[in-house]
Amino acid sequence: MNILVLNGSPKGEGSNSLKITTAFLDGLNSIKEHNIEIINISKKNIDHCHGCFVCWTKTPGKCIIKDDMAELIEKYIKADLIVWSFPLYYFGMPSKIKAFLDRLLPTNLPYIITKEDGANRHAPRYDLSHQRHVLISTCGFYDTNNNYDALIRQFEIMFDDKLTKILCAEGELFKVPELNGRTSQYLSLAKKAGEEFGKQGSFSEHTKKRLSELLYPASEFVKMANASWDISDPSADYKVQDKSHKFIKQMSATYNPQSYINDVVIEMNFIDIDKTYQLCLGKEECSVKTHDFTPYNTKIETTFELWLQLSEGKVNGPEAMMQGKYKVLGDFSTMMKMSDYFGIKKTV
Ligand SMILES: Cc1cc2nc3c(=O)[nH]c(=O)nc-3n(C[C@H](O)[C@H](O)[C@H](O)COP(=O)(O)O)c2cc1C
Repeated sequence: MNILVLNGSPKGEGSNSLKITTAFLDGLNSIKEHNIEIINISKKNIDHCHGCFVCWTKTPGKCIIKDDMAELIEKYIKADLIVWSFPLYYFGMPSKIKAFLDRLLPTNLPYIITKEDGANRHAPRYDLSHQRHVLISTCGFYDTNNNYDALIRQFEIMFDDKLTKILCAEGELFKVPELNGRTSQYLSLAKKAGEEFGKQGSFSEHTKKRLSELLYPASEFVKMANASWDISDPSADYKVQDKSHKFIKQMSATYNPQSYINDVVIEMNFIDIDKTYQLCLGKEECSVKTHDFTPYNTKIETTFELWLQLSEGKVNGPEAMMQGKYKVLGDFSTMMKMSDYFGIKKTV
């Protein structure tokens, strides 16, 4: 099968949506090796359609604009499967992939046909009836309903029953290394979806359902998202916000209240940047203190750099401690409970 992947994220390789697409393609390829070409739309020279209709009149099937679209249309026509991979932008698609879509006009004939249901279309210039389409997209909000409605309707109108989709809310979490535990579960699921698509041309109901489950419950996600922008505190000037403060706020947002036994104060002392924070773990939530400190239960003295690496799983905690890279003062049992207090919650 010839597979054409259209990466429509302006972030190119750094796209959250592309992570899911890559996992899906891995699954597909594990069933049978396919001929896959990934086009980075943001890197291509694609002008907007001029609306001149010359591709329907003077030069049938050929656009007068001299840019990368001539080559891309050829690839599009030859593809058996087209994977549209892009983020949701203003309830629709990013502008460059929309420009690509508009520039597919030469693949149609000018004549208007009326479908069985009364809908108007332009007749196709080529027989593309064998083509299937997969839409893979992430968005920033936690809700896919009321968010993806317009885009989905557009894709359904264009591709009818030839369309299969993976829509993932809370997409920015794919960028947070500390949450890899949860996001990698989603990627495994996308791979499974690829395998199923490779075997039977569709996803099982079970896989569909699990793909639509949120990465994190909405309320926790909102806390994490707002902490990452640091705009939850309207008095905070986020431009001058220190990276370590942002990190601690995100860490507090991943606090799991189910792990609560009694109030605990963890003091973080980043010796390399001379910053101290307190994480105050309570019944309902974890708050962050930057001053007016209370007595701590446990104090961790470390460099910020090392703590980042530990939280991303790049450094082994006990080994680093044995090597004297960080010090723990006070109640050591807190350290044993760190992964219960913070990080991935069992949502699946
Ligand atoms: C200009 C712009 C518009 C956006 N519009 C929406 C939107 O309408 N709904 C939404 O949930 N997220 C929206 N987002 C967030 C992106 O969809 C989200 O960050 C996505 O995960 C980015 O995916 P990517 O890394 O594949 O580009 C928007 C982001 C930008 C930059």
